[in-house]
Amino acid sequence: MDVCDRLIIGESLPIKKTKELIRQVANSDLNVIICGESGVGKELVAQALHLSSIRRDRPFIKVNCAAIPGELLESELFGYEKGAFTGADRMKKGKFEVAHQGTMLLDEIGDMPMFLQSKMLQVLQDLQFSRLGGKRDVKVDCWVMAATNQELEQSIREGRFREDLYYRLNIIRIFIPPLRERTDDIRPLINHFRSEFAENSYETRFEFDGDVMQFLHKYPWPGNVRELKNVVGRLMLLGDWETLKEELQGRDTSKISGLPKEAAAEAGEVEEKKTFPPLKEVKKKAVQAAEAKLISAVLKETGWNRKKAAKILQISYKALLYKIKELDLDKNK
Ligand SMILES: Nc1ncnc2c1ncn2[C@@H]1O[C@H](COP(=O)(O)OP(=O)(O)OP(=O)(O)O)[C@@H](O)[C@H]1O
Ligand SMILES: [Mg+2]
Repeated sequence: MDVCDRLIIGESLPIKKTKELIRQVANSDLNVIICGESGVGKELVAQALHLSSIRRDRPFIKVNCAAIPGELLESELFGYEKGAFTGADRMKKGKFEVAHQGTMLLDEIGDMPMFLQSKMLQVLQDLQFSRLGGKRDVKVDCWVMAATNQELEQSIREGRFREDLYYRLNIIRIFIPPLRERTDDIRPLINHFRSEFAENSYETRFEFDGDVMQFLHKYPWPGNVRELKNVVGRLMLLGDWETLKEELQGRDTSKISGLPKEAAAEAGEVEEKKTFPPLKEVKKKAVQAAEAKLISAVLKETGWNRKKAAKILQISYKALLYKIKELDLDKNK
């Protein structure tokens, strides 16, 4: 059992293939791009790559390109010299330098602003750059990986992502399918999280019996493995299966493409019951519908500039990203 098997749980064909690929490229230093929906395990795969390589004892540095505004992101990545701008009262190394001899994961690369994409392209050629306000070149040796839950091909067509950068990153592409498309992984993952939580002294008498398992297999997991992990933790801690089941059924999964009919019905998408829905559910749906309407309008107005939209809506950028995901808003709808 190697580090891949210890970290990445799953018996489905795509997971087996992913682990195989990780072992093959572990010492290649070839740029890797990891794609897949939120919560499928992209960061975990990046960690597995790092820990399978000879760089394992060196730093693994992650920078989230969506969470940091453009100019700040630039200085975060490349550092700055003393006096580079007001407030720069000492030299600061960037994350690329900190990652020297280790691995750099550029998370949510699809949100990197255009001007930085151009700079990134140059940096990737020879891993050489200068700190902001500096003249001297700094050379680093690090393995560069990127992760995204966006369709970068689509972003390229819309002019939001540089095609040449895409090809430079896309030497090795690892796509992790959503959990609903690899249900063979559900049981082993549940068992894994159960023992993990048990080790963390989550005392439980909760029984994952046949009915529970059947439901969890059919549920479409819009939040993927992260959602499954949370569900297992909550059940072990609170054991409130009936309430949780209702909540899961109330989640709007109708926009997930390729969902089998019975699974959709099971997940509560198709209203078959003639009974009345609980008031709580109606309230939640009404609020979500109103939110979706307003947020869509603002996004449209700003040409899907999410930073501007967040400002107008007076919520944080992160909160907006969360809402977009939760409400499944899409530019093309
Ligand atoms: N195959 C797996 N085996 C064990 N744990 C997993 C697996 N896949 C995901 N996880 C766990 O699920 C959680 C989410 O994974 P991770 O953070 O890697 O997802 P992600 O794809 O990077 O999500 P996001 O797009 O939201 O950043 C983590 O706690 C991770 O350890
Ligand atoms: Mg991630």
